[in-house]
Amino acid sequence: MAKKTRTSVPTITSDERPPLRIGLIGYGFMGRAHANAIHQVGHFFRGLRRPVLQAVCGRSADNLAAFAKSWQVEHQETDWRKLVARTDIDAVDICTPNDSHMEIALACVKHGKMILCEKPLALNGAQGAKMVAAVEKSKLPNLVWYNYRFLPAVSLAKNIVAAGELGKIFHYRANFLQDWTISADLPQGGTGLWRLDAAVAGSGVTGDLLAHCIDTARWINGDIVSVSAMTETFIKERVHTATGKKQPVKIDDACAFLARFENGSMAVFESTRYARGHKALYTFEINGEKKSLAWDLHDLNRLSYFDHAVQGDRRGWSSIHCTDGDHPYAGKWWVPGLCLGYEHSFVHALCEFLGGLDDPKAEKRYPDFRHALGTQLVCDAVLEAARAGKWVKVKQA
Ligand SMILES: NC(=O)c1ccc[n+]([C@@H]2O[C@H](COP(=O)([O-])OP(=O)(O)OC[C@H]3O[C@@H](n4cnc5c(N)ncnc54)[C@H](O)[C@@H]3O)[C@@H](O)[C@H]2O)c1
Repeated sequence: MAKKTRTSVPTITSDERPPLRIGLIGYGFMGRAHANAIHQVGHFFRGLRRPVLQAVCGRSADNLAAFAKSWQVEHQETDWRKLVARTDIDAVDICTPNDSHMEIALACVKHGKMILCEKPLALNGAQGAKMVAAVEKSKLPNLVWYNYRFLPAVSLAKNIVAAGELGKIFHYRANFLQDWTISADLPQGGTGLWRLDAAVAGSGVTGDLLAHCIDTARWINGDIVSVSAMTETFIKERVHTATGKKQPVKIDDACAFLARFENGSMAVFESTRYARGHKALYTFEINGEKKSLAWDLHDLNRLSYFDHAVQGDRRGWSSIHCTDGDHPYAGKWWVPGLCLGYEHSFVHALCEFLGGLDDPKAEKRYPDFRHALGTQLVCDAVLEAARAGKWVKVKQA
């Protein structure tokens, strides 16, 4: 029997269900984004099981206390193992650097906790496969925070492609450009700079930025089957904050790859932290036989739309401002025409996860561990293709 597909936000009526008590690990950038989502979601998406930020964990007691006060969190732990073992927690939200995701997730399964894990799923596919095996055996609900798909314009692109409106798809192209690591004086490792340390991050732009592009691409356009890639590390040595000594840099500073999708379309992906002037420019474009779509994070409420069926001198690119009641998620917020932002993508991700708890048989619009493993395996294949200088077949999750 075909799975029920949900194309809009859940509309489950409220009851007296107990709150979903969440324990958050990590109070940095994502810790704040998720704490905000946990606070906001119930105000705008009614009828969901109510999430409560029950406890937070971080290593610095002072920072932890400040975070807990700011976000009204009752309990604090400085050891994540204690947080995971707490009996007053139903779900754990993992917002720590990538090298800790697997260990924490496996401990969550042992303690019967649902898991919301930041991306990338793990350091590599081998770790990710262990995590998938554990959560699927336990049947515990699980999500990975690939948040961009929950922006109204990106979700609308998904709906348009899923309805078959583009006809045969020929091309997918995506970029994620930044410029924050150009200085050779920037050290590697430690708070704020763990992304430059391969032992903690797993990879550079491939796992950090391209993973987002790959998640969106696979969600909208299906599986990627093979890749060819090149990577570059422009600054070969940086001082490590742990040793104070110069050490080789083992992450990819930039990566460009070609890909073939299962549906026959071809793709170009590029990411770098050396594109001077760009801070977080995520863009994608999809070209089909009948229509094309394009999106740009800097103008995140708009979806560019070209329809070849429009005749004569009116044919051209139009821009859909995705803020109307008809657009995904938008009608739950303000009046038409008023914009949403980056933070709303996390609120919507949580809304989908909570809706899935009530309707487990419906097709998920959020990425679970298995979907995120598929993305991880594309990242692994990209890095292998760059190392080997040849096309690599992508293992399927
Ligand atoms: N979805 C997105 O758009 C997005 C954006 C940024 C980061 N991320 C991901 O989120 C994760 C965290 O990134 P961030 O930018 O928030 O990093 P961050 O450096 O801002 O915060 C990391 C937090 O983890 C804590 N931490 C580290 N090790 C710990 C340990 N052993 N026990 C307890 N706490 C520990 C740190 O103290 C800090 O509070 C990473 O996996 C990253 O890839 C996702």
